[in-house]
Amino acid sequence: MSGTIRLTINGETVDVQPGDADMNLIDYLHERRDLTGTKLCCGIGVCRACTVCTRNLLDSPMEKTLACSTPVSAMRGMHVYTVEGLMQDGKLSPLQQSFLESFAFQCGYCASGFLMAATAMLDHLRAHPIDSAQLDETIETWVGGNLCRCTGYVKYIEAIRKIATPYTRNGA
Ligand code: FES
Ligand code: FES
Repeated sequence: MSGTIRLTINGETVDVQPGDADMNLIDYLHERRDLTGTKLCCGIGVCRACTVCTRNLLDSPMEKTLACSTPVSAMRGMHVYTVEGLMQDGKLSPLQQSFLESFAFQCGYCASGFLMAATAMLDHLRAHPIDSAQLDETIETWVGGNLCRCTGYVKYIEAIRKIATPYTRNGA
């Protein structure tokens, strides 16, 4: 497809140079935007360390996208969100704060992928609340494929559950 590829990254409008259109999104983020918080691990769409959030329209729900295996050209007209965009008014997002307070990660290499997958999940829960009894299954659906080589996942799930529970219909 020809023409300028325009997208937004963390709310900023970006025009991709034609020569960069075939770059993987993660390489584009690292090398052209200096956004290195999205991590490369397997590079083949398995570990999900490279997860970012995307959406077609500002009012459509966020989805998960694997930046290691998505060309930047596929993001034409899309809104892309990386871990660098999570802070609000200079403060960590509630999810980031919960990860810290729960000691959810050790080396932290996988943390941005977990954060972005859970952020997309929360965006869906805001629009379509579920019963609290369904929450663990929902977390598994959205985050269960993210791999961590350091922890037992339990703290991650605890941290996400804490933030997601108020978004459930009968959550405390
Ligand atoms: S780096 Fe492993 S899925 Fe993208
Ligand atoms: S905290 Fe080290 S890989 Fe997850």
